[in-house]
Parts: sequence; structure tokens; C-alpha cells
Amino acid sequence: MFLKFLICFSWLAFASPALETKPGCQETCGNITIPYPFGMGDECSISPWYNINCNTSYNPPTPFISTSNLQVVKISQTEVRVSNWLAVSCYATSGNLITNIPAHINLSTTPFTFSDTRNKFTVVGCDTLALIKGAGDISYTSGCVSLCDTLETLQSETLQANKSCSGLGCCQTSIPKGLKMFSTQVGSLDNYTKISSFDNCGYAFLAEHEKYTFEVSDFLYTNFLNKAKNVPVVLDWAIGEDQTCEEAQSNVTTFACMDNSECYDLDNSPGYRCRCLNGYGGNAYLSNGCQDINECEDPNNNPCEGICNNTLGGYNCFCPHGKHGDGRRDGSGCTSNNKEFPILNVTLGIGFGFLFLLVGISWLYFSINKRKLIQLKEKFFQQNGGLLLKQQMASHEGSVESSKIFTTEELELATNNYADDRILGKGGYGTVYKGILPDRRIVAIKKSKIVDESQIEQFINEFVILTQVNHRNVVKLFGCCLETEVPLLVYEYVSNGNLYEHIHRTRGNYSISWENSLRIAAETAGALAYLHSAAATPVIHRDVKSANILLNDNFTAKVADFGASRLVPLDQTKVSTLVQGTLGYLDPEYFQSSQLTEKSDVYSFGVVLVELLTGEKPFCLKRSDLERNLASYFIVSLKENRLFKLLESQMMNEGQMEQVVAYSELAKRCLSLKGDKRPTMKEVEMELERLRKFETHQGDILRREESMPLLSEPSDLYSVGGSSYTVNGSGQYSMDILSTAFTPR
Ligand SMILES: *[C@@H]1O[C@H](CO)[C@@H](O)[C@H](O)[C@H]1NC(C)=O
Ligand SMILES: *[C@@H]1O[C@H](CO)[C@@H](O)[C@H](O)[C@H]1NC(C)=O
Ligand SMILES: *[C@@H]1O[C@H](CO)[C@@H](O)[C@H](O)[C@H]1NC(C)=O
Ligand SMILES: *[C@@H]1O[C@H](CO)[C@@H](O)[C@H](O)[C@H]1NC(C)=O
Ligand SMILES: *[C@@H]1O[C@H](CO)[C@@H](O)[C@H](O)[C@H]1NC(C)=O
Ligand SMILES: *[C@@H]1O[C@H](CO)[C@@H](O)[C@H](O)[C@H]1NC(C)=O
Ligand SMILES: *[C@@H]1O[C@H](CO)[C@@H](O)[C@H](O)[C@H]1NC(C)=O
Repeated sequence: MFLKFLICFSWLAFASPALETKPGCQETCGNITIPYPFGMGDECSISPWYNINCNTSYNPPTPFISTSNLQVVKISQTEVRVSNWLAVSCYATSGNLITNIPAHINLSTTPFTFSDTRNKFTVVGCDTLALIKGAGDISYTSGCVSLCDTLETLQSETLQANKSCSGLGCCQTSIPKGLKMFSTQVGSLDNYTKISSFDNCGYAFLAEHEKYTFEVSDFLYTNFLNKAKNVPVVLDWAIGEDQTCEEAQSNVTTFACMDNSECYDLDNSPGYRCRCLNGYGGNAYLSNGCQDINECEDPNNNPCEGICNNTLGGYNCFCPHGKHGDGRRDGSGCTSNNKEFPILNVTLGIGFGFLFLLVGISWLYFSINKRKLIQLKEKFFQQNGGLLLKQQMASHEGSVESSKIFTTEELELATNNYADDRILGKGGYGTVYKGILPDRRIVAIKKSKIVDESQIEQFINEFVILTQVNHRNVVKLFGCCLETEVPLLVYEYVSNGNLYEHIHRTRGNYSISWENSLRIAAETAGALAYLHSAAATPVIHRDVKSANILLNDNFTAKVADFGASRLVPLDQTKVSTLVQGTLGYLDPEYFQSSQLTEKSDVYSFGVVLVELLTGEKPFCLKRSDLERNLASYFIVSLKENRLFKLLESQMMNEGQMEQVVAYSELAKRCLSLKGDKRPTMKEVEMELERLRKFETHQGDILRREESMPLLSEPSDLYSVGGSSYTVNGSGQYSMDILSTAFTPR
């Protein structure tokens, strides 16, 4: 029974409000609570400056700070409020000074500091000026002046300003951090003679500014004294002399912060203070002063919806048996006592949540990516001359429409994403890939390498010209794609390489029969004649050469590479251009005059004719200076009747002598230095056709293509721009320098 009582008692003691005062010490003076480290008597306070002198000769008893005359109004965990000290001066209507009381507070050796946030230096009066002077550690002088002429303006102004100290009849100024001592005195300009009807006194004081609101009635001395009693000055207190937390913590016997508390430094004075840890409340300076706060006692102190279990320094929320959730009002709370359902719901909810999140994120990701891609494609389209193309389309309406503008995806699919095994050839201009379109058409896709303005123009040029041309001996253009960084052209696939390679690849093992040579020449001439006259707008190829004549499996010629070609307006026969062409094929007249005519193509074609006849390269450094250029070499040989020495031995064998002579004569005419003397392409074509018929009327004995293979090995040749490349069996390629484009600038 007794034990039970004891337990009960101790529990009561434990649960009692947190201790404020040291056990065994008086808690209050009058009705003011004195918390530790303050206390009445040396035993009850932490140090002499915290020893509160409770003077019982007052009623109620009144506390003072130690031996000073500072009357304590309130003590909190961080501040102590003391009654303030007024400076006053009053004048008679005559202007004579009646009262003049200066004010002075000296806290230099105390642990107290004037709070710079709560206090303001305040001056009240209408002919009043006052200075505040700090001395000691902080030496400073400040002050303010308040002058007003009539009561009326003052009243309306103060009414409007809600009686606060706004500058009219009352002024305020802040004080610096760390102020420990000040003195002040009130002065006047006119000894209150001009305003004696409503104001005879001025006041200056340092006080808690939130507690003072100015009123006009404050000019009356008695009124003001009554009011000022309740306006304290706020002092920040600190313990530990000048020690910081770190310094103080090292000496456990003197360190003031007790169990479950923490130490903190102050920003406006030396020394430190203590406070209880989170979740604890009470007096941090007393052992067992910081007590656990039972958050569960007051529903306002915890967010628990279910059961609240207090812990030391905190609390836990949980749900009663059969309910689920985190037990918090701000969380999932406690739901349903059915065990299966919530789990299912939560699982489903989380599952669907994730699904939606996933879908949302992917959608966002893809749409952002798609937008970026579209913008990029748009950029490339413009950069690659899409606008130029549109213009061209507008000026040649109708014709371009038959060609297609391919999308990047279509071409990536067709070339197996530009796989290496799809490369037909590489060159200075870029790479040609073999592609298979969804409709099973095999195409060649030319991918330019470098993108600069001039090449884009060439590219568009080729595109526009090819879309206007429809001839069985001109390589067919299916379309293009401008959405990639480099523009792409899609051609008909011509399987058997180019003429240059067939003539020159295997020296001494000439693989094209005379009959085929004649046919290829005739077909090429036909294509060029068509370009010169029959196409919608005459086209000058400008780069006629054997490397630009592609061959298919039946050795049908296909004229290719219109990058340098020119459309000639119908009313013009000459166009001035930058000279462009390939060394060995270049028309000397055009080279000198820059005047481009159809006859330039005729000259170049003449070189191809000689190439076919002789199997010699159009330009060869191995030959002597005079003979280096095949055209002049041929002309000179003809003149000196050395033609047959020049001819391919096979030609001698199988070609009819008359045919060869006529053919040579035609080539010679094509190679005339003067363009006027050259035949037109149409004439060349007709002459070649005549020679072919003549040949086919001859006996079959001279034919050789049945007995000899046309090619000594399978070919993977392709023309890329002005350069020819051989892709050999190992997939490597070599370059033939002499056939690269020669462009004098
Ligand atoms: C203190 O006690 C006096 C009289 O005993 C009373 O007038 C005053 O209101 C009390 N102050 C407080 C803050 O309780
Ligand atoms: C208490 O106040 C009275 C009047 O101001 C003073 O005479 C007396 O000395 C004070 N007592 C103490 C203990 O300070
Ligand atoms: C104000 O009063 C002081 C002292 O009483 C006197 O010396 C001074 O002349 C007076 N000034 C005016 C403007 O009356
Ligand atoms: C302030 O008080 C300290 C100690 O009490 C004293 O040494 C100092 O001279 C005082 N200063 C003034 C300006 O009174
Ligand atoms: C004056 O104070 C009242 C109440 O405190 C407030 O509603 C009003 O807006 C204030 N007027 C001015 C001018 O500050
Ligand atoms: C701690 O402070 C006490 C009192 O000032 C002093 O006697 C003691 O030597 C100090 N201890 C240490 C370790 O500084
Ligand atoms: C409450 O929490 C304490 C630990 O802080 C634990 O020992 C006790 O079992 C908990 N009470 C319940 C009912 O969960």
C-alpha cells in the first residue's frame, strides 16, 4: 500500500510542470517568476549577476537585478525585461528650464546586453532633440529630432499613422548590436516657447518599441510617466562570461547546459545560452530540467489519427489492430479493418500509379525527342537547300513532282542503317550505298560527305536536272532526302560499274568488244543529244567522261553525275560560267573563253570516243609532254598516219577498217579546237548509228562476245561524283587520281 503510494507520488512529481527554479529556492518575487539561472540568493542563482534582489519593502515585493537599480519586470529563457530609464526636460511658458533629468544605464561588467532587435531609442516632444551616446566597447553617438508647429497637423497625422511613433511628435532610431552602456540627454531649440500651448516637455528613452505607441496626450508629464512604467527595456542575457559553447563545453564542472539540452552561441554578445533538445521542454540549466514533452497528451501537438505512443524526444503514430496505414492525419491515416482489401487496393493503386507514371514519362520522353528530331530535320531540310528546291519546283512546275522526297526512316530501312556491306563506292563527294526499297526496287543512294553551300547548289542542280530528264540512257533519279545533315539522292541502281573502269582497269586485256563499244558510244551520244535538244530545257552536262557513263549488266550506257550540269535558257546558246570539268576531257575553247556551249560536251565526248578506240587514258603523265593529252596525241597520230599503232590490238582484229577510219574521223571532228567546226551531238549520234548498222551487216565471225567473257571478274564499281573508285574483293578501295575532277579556279 505504501509502495503504491510512493510510486504514485513519484509519478506525480515526474509529471509535474517542468522545473523553473532550483529545488529548494523561492520561485517568485511578488508575482514575478524567477527561473534558474536567475534566483534569489547565491545558492539559487548561477552567478552573482543572476542573483535577484527581491526587495520586500515594496508591495508587492519587487525584484531588482543584483545590486543595481534595474527593476525586473519579466524574465524569459533568453531575455530579461527591466524598467526603463527616462531622460526628461520640461520648460515653463516663459522658456525657462524647469526639469532636466539625463538618463544613463551602465551594463559594462554584467552579462547583459541591450537587445538591438527589440529596443529602439525613442524621443517624444515637439521642440525636442536628443542624443544617445554609447561608451565603452561600443563608442557611438546617434539621436533624433522631433519638431512640430501646430497641434492640429499633429493630431491628424498621428491619427492617420495609427498613433505609432512616425516622426511627428515622436521619433525613433535603432541601436547597434552589442550595446552595453548608454547615456542620453534631451535638448530643445526654442525652449518650447512657440509650442507652449500644447507641449512643455520632451522625453528620451531606450525601450521595447513594440510596447510603446505614441499619443498626443503623452506630452503631459504625468500621463507619460504612468505610461512609461509599462514600457520596459529588453536585455539579452548570456552566461559563461566571454566563453563560446566550444570553450565552455571543455570544462564539465562549469558548463551550464544540462541533460537533453544543447548549447548555442549569441550573435550580439559574448557568452552562450542553453536550450532543450527538440521534443523536450523545461529549463536547460537545471539537471533534469529538460523533460520529454508528451506530444500525445495534446492532439494539437501530434498528427496521429490512430494511437499515439510517446517516446523520449518524440512520438510514434500507429493504427490499432486490424487497421492499416501510417496512422497520421497528414499521411495515409488508418483505413478499414478488412485485412485483404486495403493490401489489394494499395498494391493495385501503386501498380497503376507506376504504370501511368511510366506511360507518362515515356510519352513525354518520346514527344520531346520527336520534337527535337523534327526541328533538326526541318533545319537540315532548309540547310540542304529545301527552300531552293521548292523554288526550283515552282519554276519547273510539274516535272519535279514525279520524283519523290524520301524520309530519313525510309532510307535507313533501305540501306540497313547505312551498313558497311551496302557501300557501293566511296569518293571525294561522299559514299554511295546500295538500298532496297519496300517495293523491292534496288536503288543507289548517294550520300554527300561535306556540306557547304556550293555543294548544296550542285546537289539541287543535279536533282532538278535529273527530274526533268527521262531517257533510257540517262541514270534515273527516284528522289531525294533533305532531312538528314547531308543531303541524299536516290538513283536507279546501275549494276555494272562505269565505262572508265571497263576500259582502263585491265591494261592489255581489253574487255569490251568493238560492237559494244560502238553501241555504248551511240547510246551515250543519243543521251547527250537528247539533253542538248530534246529535254524540256537544254542541258549541258559539263562533265562528260568515261567515269560518268555507267553500264548495266547488258552493257547499256547510263549517263550519270549531273552535279556540274547547266540548264541553258532557250533564248541563249552560250552561258558564262566558272570553268569546270575533268582534266583530259576539258574543251580548250571553253577553258580559254569561259563560254559554255553544247559543243563543250561534244569535245569531251570526242575524248571518250578516242578512249574507247585506243584504250588509252585521257591524260597520262607517262606519255611525253606532247602526247600527255590523249586528244592531241590522237590528232597528231592521225596526221602522221600513225593511227593504227595507237589502236587496241583487238580493234585491229575485229573492227572493220572502214568503220574504224570513219569512227576516227568522227572523233577528230569532235575534237576540233573551234567549237563551230565540231558536229552537233545529234549528228554524232546519227553517224554512230550508221556505223553500227554497217557493223551488224558484217558476218558473225568478227563478233567475239560469245567466245570471250565481257568481264574478267565481277565488278563492284561505281562512280561517286567526279572520282572513280574500285572496291576490291577485300572491301578496300583504291583511288584513281587521274580521273578525279579538275576544277581550275
Ligand atoms: C501582480 O500582482 C499585483 C498585485 O498583487 C497585480 O496587480 C498584478 O496584476 C499582478 N501581475 C501579474 C502579471 O500577475
Ligand atoms: C528596498 O528598497 C528600499 C526603498 O527603495 C531601500 O531603502 C532598501 O534598502 C531596499 N532593500 C534592499 C535589501 O535592497
Ligand atoms: C533657453 O533656456 C536657457 C536656460 O534656461 C537659456 O540660457 C536660453 O537663452 C533660452 N533660450 C531661448 C531661445 O529662450
Ligand atoms: C560602467 O561600470 C563599470 C563597472 O561598474 C565602470 O568601471 C565604468 O567606469 C562605468 N562606466 C561609466 C561610463 O560609468
Ligand atoms: C490602424 O490600425 C488599425 C487596427 O490596428 C488598422 O486596421 C488600420 O489599417 C491602421 N491604419 C493605418 C493607417 O495604419
Ligand atoms: C573548470 O572550472 C573550475 C572553476 O572555474 C576550475 O576550478 C577548474 O580548474 C576548471 N577545470 C578545467 C579542466 O579547466
Ligand atoms: C511505445 O514506444 C516505446 C518505445 O519508445 C515502446 O517500448 C513501447 O512498446 C511502445 N508502445 C506501444 C503500445 O507500441
